[in-house]
Amino acid sequence: MGTYYNGLGFRYLQDTKYYRDKPIKDDLGFLPPPPAAKSYFNVPKFQLPEPDLELSHSLWDCLKKRRSIRKYSSLPITSQELSNLVWATQGITERIGNHMRRTAPSAGALYPFETYLYLNNVEDFERGIYHLHVASFSLEQLKRGNFSEELAQAALGQQMVARAAVVFIWSAVPLRCMVKYRNRGIRYIFLDLGHVCQNLQLATTALGMGSCPIGAFFDDELNEILELDGIDETVVYMNPVGKL
Ligand SMILES: Cc1cc2nc3c(=O)[nH]c(=O)nc-3n(C[C@H](O)[C@H](O)[C@H](O)COP(=O)(O)O)c2cc1C
Repeated sequence: MGTYYNGLGFRYLQDTKYYRDKPIKDDLGFLPPPPAAKSYFNVPKFQLPEPDLELSHSLWDCLKKRRSIRKYSSLPITSQELSNLVWATQGITERIGNHMRRTAPSAGALYPFETYLYLNNVEDFERGIYHLHVASFSLEQLKRGNFSEELAQAALGQQMVARAAVVFIWSAVPLRCMVKYRNRGIRYIFLDLGHVCQNLQLATTALGMGSCPIGAFFDDELNEILELDGIDETVVYMNPVGKL
């Protein structure tokens, strides 16, 4: 048990607890506030259609049916369906000044993550890797081409990634929430993305599709594919989606 108590993960949880009578240990010094969201310039940008929010699936039904599904058919996803899935994860539901409140909660409304999409089989979209520009509900095209096998290999060979019509990949941008919450902020990245991913799973259930959260991957292989430095921004979660 000695090693367990001294391990990195255990110490992180203990050392980032709030106490009434003492502050959290903090040797971080000044942290420069980064931009609140990422934008790519000089890349093709594609507006997503408005989401169709008239679908009549009850929340209770979706909660009951939700499962992690790892086998998908080769049917394409329509751009309307893609729009609904993206909206479920990060759709803007309220604007207050510069703040954009979304379908998923985030500690301090800081949203310390970015969403990337590998569109493998989506009608009206060229196959490739895209970044979600949340404010304009549009996709920035980063790379054209077939990355199915490369992504699956980076995800420890999990073939559901290669078979999916769309793969959601989320990165963490730690500084965005560490400026406010310091070391405790790292906790909130994972909590925030849990909400985002659950929204996606419920949305795929509502649309009769399958999806599966993935936490097992070679981080820097994914970072390399997305051209992230793996330091100020690093991949933390994925979720392939496909029709049944
Ligand atoms: C954080 C997290 C990481 C996961 N990573 C993987 C993964 O890498 N591969 C996989 O096949 N399933 C993965 N899963 C799915 C779980 O295996 C699944 O949620 C669990 O077996 C319960 O099944 P259910 O989601 O159908 O209720 C992950 C789930 C979570 C929440």
